[in-house]
Amino acid sequence: MTENGLGQVLGSLRRHPDVEAANLQAWDATDSLLLDAASGLLTPDSTVAVIGDNYGALTLGLLAGGPGPVPAEVRVHQDLVTGERALRNNAAALGVAAGFTQLPLGTELLSGADLVLLQLPRTLAELEEISDAVARYAPAGAVLLAGGRVKHMSLGMNAVLGKYFAKVQPQLARQKSRLLIASDLLRAEGTPPYPVTDHNAELDLDICAHGAVFAGTRLDIGTRFLLTFLPEIPAAARAVDLGCGTGILAAMYARRNPGTEVLATDRSAAAVASAGATARANGLAGITAVQDDAMSTLPAGSADLILLNPPFHLGSSVHAGAGLKLFEAAGRVLAPGGQLWTVYNSHLRYGPALERLVGPTTVKGRNPKFTVAASVRRAAG
Ligand SMILES: C[S@@+](CC[C@H](N)C(=O)[O-])C[C@H]1O[C@@H](n2cnc3c(N)ncnc32)[C@H](O)[C@@H]1O
Repeated sequence: MTENGLGQVLGSLRRHPDVEAANLQAWDATDSLLLDAASGLLTPDSTVAVIGDNYGALTLGLLAGGPGPVPAEVRVHQDLVTGERALRNNAAALGVAAGFTQLPLGTELLSGADLVLLQLPRTLAELEEISDAVARYAPAGAVLLAGGRVKHMSLGMNAVLGKYFAKVQPQLARQKSRLLIASDLLRAEGTPPYPVTDHNAELDLDICAHGAVFAGTRLDIGTRFLLTFLPEIPAAARAVDLGCGTGILAAMYARRNPGTEVLATDRSAAAVASAGATARANGLAGITAVQDDAMSTLPAGSADLILLNPPFHLGSSVHAGAGLKLFEAAGRVLAPGGQLWTVYNSHLRYGPALERLVGPTTVKGRNPKFTVAASVRRAAG
């Protein structure tokens, strides 16, 4: 394997089914920095666990791009189902579809892994949950190579790693990315730190959150505004909390409408686990939580109501495409006459897109920051 091989692998990667655009890349300089550092530690007997591989650059770099020997086993955990699917698509295109195993964050991923490669997550909470899992399940001699873009890194990350590893060594930055090398693992014991549960007194709701979930156990201010319209939102036979995060919208709706079948769905595994835990913690048996990309596995016309607080970030970039993809999905999954209730930052001016992708849209309310709109799915034809 050669550096050239790595360039070819990275250059061939696509983000699909995640949103694709000229300013959104499937890999970054952190991936090549991690792969370079890994090459000095790899042997043909190595078992490598990859965590946070966005679209497969690390996994496929190890298997097909080098530099360094191909490890005996590559296991990979990605929180987003879009990342998992992109990795499989990219692997198939490179002809290495069978070389890795995709696993949840846990013992199967980490037991026997001598090397762990990590694209540093955005939040300290997610880093804590990952570090705890490594310390709990990886062998004592495991080395963690954690890399990120310098502008997204903080000393708090060193401090979190320092709770789980006796040695944390920051490396010199290259192309605006930096590695932290963590070793001498301190075994984690007792109850894992995540999920956490907090009681939200305003909603009288127990909110459960894994480390990677949007807003943790907090109530997002857009979600809070959407919830003030709950008395106006119609009772439906089948409702979806789309992009459910911790499942607050699903829980509050289900509590008010006990006869409704509520589906809480998100592309993030941490979100879906959190929403399921929130439903159980509040005794809401009518909620089912499912991981999916923009309801791709739901039949057209199968829902009467969709509640949505859409994302406006894709990873670390602000991009309207994430919200538009979900509006389009709502247009497909709603039955004619079904309603999409959504909240968004007023400056985004989503009205015309909602009209086009779903149907006639009425602004139900505005506060200084947010707009709440209801769109009625137009009849086919
Ligand atoms: C602004 S957060 C809202 C979370 C939650 N509904 C709340 O109100 O607190 C947007 C959520 O959409 C999810 N999301 C983004 N793109 C998605 C996609 N393509 N399919 C499903 N969920 C998606 C994110 O993972 C995130 O949890």
